[in-house]
Parts: sequence; C-alpha cells; structure tokens
Amino acid sequence: MIPPERPLVLPSVMSADMTALGGQLGELCAAGARVFHVDVMDGHFVPNLTVGPDFAAAVARSVRPHGGLVDVHLMVERPGYLLEAFAPHADAISVHAEADPHLHRLLGEIRRLGCAAGIAINPGTPIDFVTALVGVVDYVNCMAVNPGFAGQSFIPTTPDKVARLRTELPDEVWIEVDGGIAPGTLPAARDAGASWLVSASAIFGAEDPVGAYRRLAELAG
Ligand code: DX5
Ligand code: ZN
Repeated sequence: MIPPERPLVLPSVMSADMTALGGQLGELCAAGARVFHVDVMDGHFVPNLTVGPDFAAAVARSVRPHGGLVDVHLMVERPGYLLEAFAPHADAISVHAEADPHLHRLLGEIRRLGCAAGIAINPGTPIDFVTALVGVVDYVNCMAVNPGFAGQSFIPTTPDKVARLRTELPDEVWIEVDGGIAPGTLPAARDAGASWLVSASAIFGAEDPVGAYRRLAELAG
C-alpha cells in the first residue's frame, strides 16, 4: 500500500524515449520521481495498443533499485486475466469501472496479489461507481481525458469531479488524475484533492524532461 503523504507527479512512461528508457527513468528517479505510471491498452477498451507485462518488468527493473514504484493503469476489457502477469512488476494496479461487471472481485484480487487496488473512471462515468467500492478500493484514477492517447487536452470539469470524489471518499482512499496534466492544469487538480498527478507529454514531450518534471513537482508541492 502506498498512501501518499503529499501530492506526487507520476511520469507516464508511454511517452518516454523507448531507445533510452532505463537512463531516462533513472534520471527522473534522481530528480525525485517516486511512482511511474504504465499505460496498458488493448485495442478494444480503447482504440490503441501499448505494452504488456514484459514492459512493466523493464520499468520495474529500472526504477526499483532507486526506490521507485510502478503504477499500472489497465485500459483493457475484462482485465482479470492480466493481473497475475502484471502484479510482480507493479505496486499499484487500476482497472476501469466500465471494463468489467465484477469490480469488487477484481479489486480483492489485486490486493491479494500484493498491490494497491485502483478504480479508473472515464470522464463520462459518474462517481457513484466508486463510492460503492469503499472498503475494497485503495485509490481512484479520475480520468481527465478520454483514455487511449497521450497529448490530449485536460477536460475542464475534472477538478469539480475530483472535489466531489474527495468529499465522498474516506481520507485513506487517494485520488489520481490522469491526462492533460501540465503546469497550467496541475494546480486545479491538486487543489481539488488529487494526490497522484500523472503526466506524459508535459514531461517527455519537453526538450528537457527532467527540468519539466521538476517544474511540475514544484507545483505539486
Ligand atoms: C491516457 C493515459 C494517460 C496518458 C497521459 O489514456 O491513461 O496516462 O499517458 O498523457 P498526457 O499527460 O500526455 O495527457
Ligand atoms: Zn494512464
């Protein structure tokens, strides 16, 4: 379990330089990054394909020696079949509320495998989906874009939704905001109560990813 003591910026590895992955992740660890976000897309739940457990293992091998942790975001239909394969390389795993009718069982399985259990919700999904899961959920990934691609714009109603989640959820359930996090959008997400702020393009799309990470981390506080 990883109850965050203060807001953290999670580099989303899908936009890293795949030809220099280990070095880039090591530099971010040295700059203070603690949790790394791995986006898994199946081409069905979202119209894009990304990576599998071997990639999560490579990220874990790169960051764990520096004290880093791995957050796996499964944008996959019926993700139960993947949990055992990802769990050894993950410290936290989120599954989408829209992707499986048996969320209670899935979250229990994620915890049984030794990871923090997260529920991700799309921008169009109401927060009632997650309030019904209090007791079995460790964190909520409140998507600030429709999942599938990096580089999209932050949906401006997200902070209101995060604030409502923060009011409804017990303190020990933390909130992650994923998508469109940049210097202009991070403060509103943080002020609404987000503890994990995921960013791909604003870090890896910058000329100086470490400098961009530091700037976001300073804004996170
Ligand atoms: C989107 C992914 C995000 C993505 C964020 O489907 O879940 O984690 O990598 O990318 P940016 O920060 O570019 O919006
Ligand atoms: Zn993600």
